[in-house]
Amino acid sequence: MTFSYQIKSLEKYREAYQKSIENPEAFWEEIAAHFTWQKKWDTILSYNFIEPKIEWFGGAKLNITENCIDRHLANRGEEIAIIWEPNDPKEQVRSITYTELHKQVCMVAQMLTNLGVKKGDRVCIYMGMVPELTFAILGCARIGAIHSVIFGGFSAQSISDRLADAQAGYIITCDGAERGNKTINLKSVIDDALVGNEQVKKVIVFTRSKIPVAMQKGRDTWWEDEMEQAGQQVEKNGVVSFPAEPMHAEDPLFILYTSGSTGKPKGVVHSTAGYLLWTNYTFLNVFQYQLGQVHFCTADIGWITGHSYIVYGPLSAGGTTLMFEGIPTWPDAGRFWDIVAKHKVNILYTAPTAIRSLMAFGLEPLKNKDLSSLQVLGSVGEPINEEAWHWFSQHIGKGNCPIVDTWWQTETGGIMISNLAGITPQKPAHATLPLPGVIPVLVDENGIEIIGNGVSGNLCIKQAWPGIIRTTYGDHERCKTNYFSTYPNLYFTGDGCLRDEVGNYRITGRVDDVLNVSGHRIGTAEVENAINRHSGVIESAVVGYPHDVKGQGIYAYVIFEESNHNQNLTKQDILQTVTRIIGPIAKPDKIQFVLGLPKTRSGKIMRRILRKIAEGETQSIGDTSTLLDPNIVDDIIAGAF
Ligand code: WTA
Repeated sequence: MTFSYQIKSLEKYREAYQKSIENPEAFWEEIAAHFTWQKKWDTILSYNFIEPKIEWFGGAKLNITENCIDRHLANRGEEIAIIWEPNDPKEQVRSITYTELHKQVCMVAQMLTNLGVKKGDRVCIYMGMVPELTFAILGCARIGAIHSVIFGGFSAQSISDRLADAQAGYIITCDGAERGNKTINLKSVIDDALVGNEQVKKVIVFTRSKIPVAMQKGRDTWWEDEMEQAGQQVEKNGVVSFPAEPMHAEDPLFILYTSGSTGKPKGVVHSTAGYLLWTNYTFLNVFQYQLGQVHFCTADIGWITGHSYIVYGPLSAGGTTLMFEGIPTWPDAGRFWDIVAKHKVNILYTAPTAIRSLMAFGLEPLKNKDLSSLQVLGSVGEPINEEAWHWFSQHIGKGNCPIVDTWWQTETGGIMISNLAGITPQKPAHATLPLPGVIPVLVDENGIEIIGNGVSGNLCIKQAWPGIIRTTYGDHERCKTNYFSTYPNLYFTGDGCLRDEVGNYRITGRVDDVLNVSGHRIGTAEVENAINRHSGVIESAVVGYPHDVKGQGIYAYVIFEESNHNQNLTKQDILQTVTRIIGPIAKPDKIQFVLGLPKTRSGKIMRRILRKIAEGETQSIGDTSTLLDPNIVDDIIAGAF
C-alpha cells in the first residue's frame, strides 16, 4: 500500500489545506479512491448544519473490516497487526498477524450470527484491554452490528443507563480485568447492571482472569465455547472466510457515550465511510506513520482515542498497533519506558495527565531505559502545559522527536487541529494548525465571528469533515441542541481557544459545564446528580479547579440535611455513592459542606463564584449584588479549602 496522500512538506500541507477548503468533494474523492468499496458513491458530500444532516459518499457501500483487515492480507498477512502487552510483564506477550486477526474477526462474526445478532443490532462491549476486545469490535463491524464500548471503570448503574439508551440486546464482557495489582470483576458488574433489564438476550463472557463468575442459564455463554463452534464453521479446507456485510456509507458504525453539560451522557454516533477515511487520513498524516513502525497509543479502547488510534486508524493503514492492558505505574513508574524498549515503539501517543504523573517520579524510572526507537510523540485529551511538554520532549524524546499536540473530541471522530510530525511547525502547548478539511472559527458570545490573529473566542467549525458526529443515538434533537444551535450554521465544540499572531490555535479548555479530569470528560450535572442520590444530601454544586496532575480536580459543595453529622464519614459515604452511580473516575477530590449555595433571585446557582472559591481566588469574586443572599459567599469562603 502506498500512502500518496501523506503530506510531506509544509508547502504540500498548505496546498492540501487550500484544496480541501475550496473543493472538499474533489479532495476527498481522491483519497476515497485508495479504499476498498463494494459499490462506489453516487454523490460525495451533501450536508446542512441546521437539522443537522450529513452525508458523505451517498449511495456507496463498503465494510470497514475489509479496509482494516482483508485488503492487507495479500501482501501483509504475516505482518503484526496487534502487539499485546499484558498487565503483568512476566506474562506472555501476544503478537497477532493480519491473517490471524482476519480469522478471529470472522469467528466473532460467525459467533454473533449464531447467537442471533443482526445488522443494526446494538452490542455493548465491556471488557478489559485484551486483544479479544478488538476482535469483538471488528466482529460487530463485520456483520454490521453497532458496537458500543463502555469503559471498564464505569459502574453498574452507568452501564445500565447506557444499555437502556442504546436498547442493546447483546453484551460481550470478560470474567475479570487485570489492572496493576487488582483484578476487577467485570462480569459481576454486568450482572448488577442487568437486574431488571429485559432487553439483553445474550451475554458472552471471555475468560481473562480465571475468577469464579455466576452464569445465568439461557442468557450467559462462554466466548471460548462459542468461538470453538464458530471456528469450525468459518474454516473450510484450510480457508477462513466470513462475508463482510455490505454497509451503506452512512450506516452507523458505533455509539460511544460521552458527557455533556446536561445530566445524562449522550450516545455519539459515527458512520462507516466518513469515520474510516477520517481516522485513516489523520493517523497517517499527524503521526507520519510508516509501515513497519510500532504505534503505541496508551488510551483505553473505552474512549474515542482508543477507537480511532488503537483500532481503526492504525489497522486501516495496515500498521502495527500496541495494546497495553495495564497501568503506567505498575509494577513501577518505569512501565511505559520498559514497554517502549521491549517492543521498540516508534510512536508514543499519550495524555498530559500521564506525563505529569510520571514527571512526579523524577528521572529515576528512566534510568537505563532504551528509548532510542522513539520517533514521534503525541499528546491528547486536555491542554498540555509547557512544563509537561518540555519534559516529554527532553526526557522521553531526547530532543529528537517531534511532539504532536492533537486537539479533537469524541464527536469529531479523529484529530482536528494538530501539527504534522516533523512536517509542520510545532509550538509548545499549541495544537497549531487545522488538518485539511477543518475550518476552525472563533466566535464571541453573540456568535459574531472574530477575524484576524492574536484573538480568542469560542471554537466552532465550519463545513462538514468526514468524521463529524452524525447524531446522538435515539435523540437527534439533542445532537442539534448541543452542537448546532448555539451558533447557527456552525458546529460548536464547547472549547475556548486562542489564535496567536501567526494563526496557531491553542485550546484553553471547556467553556461549558464539562470537566476534564485526567483527560476524562465528566459533566458537572452528572456528578451533582450522583451526589444528590445520597439520602442525606439536600443539594449540591460541582465545579472544577486546577489540579497539578489531573489537569482539573472536582470540587463539590454539598448541603447536608443534618448539621452535626460526622463529616469525614459522610464524605466517604458520598464518595461511595458517586462510585456506585458513575464510577471511581467521577469521585470529587474535595467536598465542602455548606449551609447554602450562591443563588440569584431566580434560583440559578452562580457557578462563577463557586469556581473562584475553588480556585482559591477569593479576592476577586466580583459582583455579588444580584444574589438572593450575598452573605452566603463569605460563609463558603470561610469554610473553603
Ligand atoms: C479536550 C478526547 C487541549 C477538549 C480526544 C475537548 C484538548 C475534550 C486536547 C474532548 C488538546 C482534547 N488540547 N484540549 N490537544 N484534546 N482536549 O471527547 O476540551 O474525551 O473538548 O475526546 O478534551 O474530550 P473527548
